[in-house]
Amino acid sequence: MICSVAPAKLILLGEHFVVMDKPAIATAINLYARVCIEENDRFVVISEELGEKIYLDNQNIPEKYSQFKLITELVASKTNKYRKFKATISSAIPPSSGLGSSAATAVAFIHALYRFYGVNPSLDEVNSVAFEAEKIVHGKPSGVDNTVSTYGGLIYYKKGLVKRLDINWPDDLNLVVVDTGVKRNTGVVVRNVLKLYGSDDVFIDIYGVAEKIVDKAWRALEKGDFDKLPVLINVNHGLLVSINVSTVETEYAIHKLREAGALASKISGAGMGGVVYGLFKGSIDYNILDQFFKSRGFKYYVVKPVNRGVFPSDSS
Ligand code: MEV
Repeated sequence: MICSVAPAKLILLGEHFVVMDKPAIATAINLYARVCIEENDRFVVISEELGEKIYLDNQNIPEKYSQFKLITELVASKTNKYRKFKATISSAIPPSSGLGSSAATAVAFIHALYRFYGVNPSLDEVNSVAFEAEKIVHGKPSGVDNTVSTYGGLIYYKKGLVKRLDINWPDDLNLVVVDTGVKRNTGVVVRNVLKLYGSDDVFIDIYGVAEKIVDKAWRALEKGDFDKLPVLINVNHGLLVSINVSTVETEYAIHKLREAGALASKISGAGMGGVVYGLFKGSIDYNILDQFFKSRGFKYYVVKPVNRGVFPSDSS
């Protein structure tokens, strides 16, 4: 079976502001989506986690599966090949939470589908098809999710400009991602933020500060100066509050992470629920995390940045 694996992304800084062409920094993390493709008599996509089986040749397919149909057509037009398949998705990335599960799945699917047709795609090819698919899933994507899942590593992303760094992440630094479990539609949140942006010119200044934070953080990361990050992360969270994407749940998680010893914490991704992360140095007290988060029904994941983007992982 032809299988490909792609990592989730965690936006460290700059989400939302990136939609208005400010920079963002994201990293690939060690949570993965895997897609396996094999011959079949119909086009079908199976999600193991969701227990769903969707026939792509049916008239009305659920919206979240429409990207598979589009990708199938795009890859067929690029490779001049078209063969029916069964695609099985297995993913450890919590869906609709801000970790780019749909982009990671799309990237793994595209990579596997090219190879199923006997073509070895370049990463640029995979990324450009994934970006088209992202546009279907949410109206005005910046492209950061698919870029991180494709290339891995740390990505500085600004419209038309992508810089990539291999991460030399210190062993004693951990990221704790807390999933509030509150699902929201990224496209809707992005549209509301854009409406707010247009309502007052104070946001021009706020977006300018967001840019300054991200540029400072990137320079620090290039030098391996991780001590500069906490202040920038916390201020960035404050800016996300100012554009109205924080909720009671996210504020609870942000402040409990700090109480549990995080050097900094912020929303990651679209907000309005979804995930937040904390940056921890040294050992983590899991009892405190359990007490704060499990009791409230929030899941948490201790993750590390990874340098590898999409890769083949075929099985017999
Ligand atoms: C969503 O993961 C990140 C946003 O900045 C939207 C985007 O960049 O497309 C909110």
